[in-house]
Amino acid sequence: MCGIAGITGTDDAGRALIDALERLEYRGYDSAGIATHAPDGIEVRKSVGSVAALAALGSPGGDRRSGIAHTRWATHGAPSTRNAHPHLSHDGTTALVHNGTVRNVARLRGELTDRGITTTSDTDSEVLVHLIAWHRAQGVDALEAVRLTLARVDGDYAVLVITADRPGTLIAAASGSPLLIGTDGRAVHVASDRAALSSGCTHCSPVLDGEVVAVTAAVPAGRTWEVLTPGTTWTDKGSYPNFLLKEINEQPQTSRAAIGALFSPVAEGSAADWGSTLDRSAIKRVCFLGCGSSYYAGQVAASFVENLARIPATAEPAAEFTQRDPVVEPDCLYVLISQSGETLDTLHAHRYLRRHPVQTLSIVNVRGSSLDRESDASIPLCAGAEVSVASTKVVTNMQIAGLALASWLARADYGSKSAALLELDLALPILPTILADLLAGQDAEIRALAESVHAFRSMYYLGRGPSWPVAREGAQKIKEISYIHAEAYQASELKHGPLALVDPDHVSVVVAANDAGGQQSATLIGQIQARGGAVVVFSQHQDYEFDAPTVRLPAVHPLLDHIVMGVALQVFAYHTATILDRDVDRPRNLAKSVTVE
Ligand code: F6R
Repeated sequence: MCGIAGITGTDDAGRALIDALERLEYRGYDSAGIATHAPDGIEVRKSVGSVAALAALGSPGGDRRSGIAHTRWATHGAPSTRNAHPHLSHDGTTALVHNGTVRNVARLRGELTDRGITTTSDTDSEVLVHLIAWHRAQGVDALEAVRLTLARVDGDYAVLVITADRPGTLIAAASGSPLLIGTDGRAVHVASDRAALSSGCTHCSPVLDGEVVAVTAAVPAGRTWEVLTPGTTWTDKGSYPNFLLKEINEQPQTSRAAIGALFSPVAEGSAADWGSTLDRSAIKRVCFLGCGSSYYAGQVAASFVENLARIPATAEPAAEFTQRDPVVEPDCLYVLISQSGETLDTLHAHRYLRRHPVQTLSIVNVRGSSLDRESDASIPLCAGAEVSVASTKVVTNMQIAGLALASWLARADYGSKSAALLELDLALPILPTILADLLAGQDAEIRALAESVHAFRSMYYLGRGPSWPVAREGAQKIKEISYIHAEAYQASELKHGPLALVDPDHVSVVVAANDAGGQQSATLIGQIQARGGAVVVFSQHQDYEFDAPTVRLPAVHPLLDHIVMGVALQVFAYHTATILDRDVDRPRNLAKSVTVE
């Protein structure tokens, strides 16, 4: 899983490729590399770690007009220069960058060995470049050599190839992994996704599944082009020390943007927009599919659908769904939920569903992403670019989108005058202000709680009912950015096994919403403390005292309280991680967009 980019027709390909890699770094930061067409062949530069380390090696020279680049999230082989892309063929004629997986790598490597060609890295990608060069040595032209090689691949791929004998030409190919061609009117760019295209690009065109195309500085003819909105592709962190803090603090604005669009009667993103392409009368149940935090947001959204619309709703990790050969129900609305719209497991689940006569709806942040394009209808998340690897403002907006969907489903059955919907309509506009007050007014208190727990090496996050997915997301955030081991359990499950781990070295974070489950927390806290375990509480009960350090949060509305709680847990994880001096924007071993299985 990685990011790839290419450019042709520019004055300084080295600089442009480094810029593209900086935009792509959220797809992986184990190593980075570029290959450019040099006057005497192909020049490859690579380094371990971030793009900054590659940039520090200096520019390959202002005379380079074309080249390809790669940022890596290691899947086959440790992060090292040897395993970094671009890979160069044994004869030096061809360089390649690859995003995807070659499942039959062992077989292809064996064929190369039989031909006397030895691979030098542990990656699956390297075999491709040698096979292309081998075909060329048999007299096959470059485009056909790439085609013949990719026809042998079992797996998903997006690749960019350059050959020494065709300066200025990039060969782009994709199957199952996204790849876009963009143009800024002068140079032609290629990148794994929209966010990585230069902000100067005015138009883009996806490389279609199975396509192998030669890209030169002349804008490729015969393609379908989409107009891009200027300046929407990239962002900077302004005066914040990192993107994570910026994105956490943007939530009053981004939640307001989502509420404004998704609950408006007419705006782009309103139910009038996405709902009109769905057949509401055919929907008898709802299933949310996503990965990681998006799956947890789907769990919260499922509880909204059951609560407001009284329609059975479930959530499942997208990858597990396809693993178990599921019964696909024609009367079920399948909702694919994803920040990037490019998570391969989620795309696979959607493509699996496409083979059945069902309606699909996506909830995505990146407009024009694969999932956005491929689903029947799409709810936009209106959160703006999210750069930090740990998802925050998007997870909040996913829950707001879940509310918008639940309201749309409920309106059809109960009409817009239902008491529950009227109450929600009244409470929703207040949510951004509540979040702003929480972020400004309770930050110091939450930081103090983080100070009290940061030295623990193990944590439980405990919640009941709809607070359980909120606890799961809280545990996810603390794991990701502080590296403290954390697990979430339904509070009711604690005494059925997990209690065995509770001792004085263990802290439990109790998520006590303003509901019946929250009230039962007093008993839970007593059970943990009786075993010597430490407890801290995030509570929305206004008049319930717990016998443990407690951050008391505002309660707005039974459905919105979970969103407020989620934001408080993000702040808690943020402070715990910064006290431990972690790199919160780029946690180890992770990447923002997971484009491998
Ligand atoms: C956690 C996180 C991940 C993503 C997951 C799915 O903070 O960001 O768990 O939620 O990788 O990514 P998307 O939403 O892009 O499909």
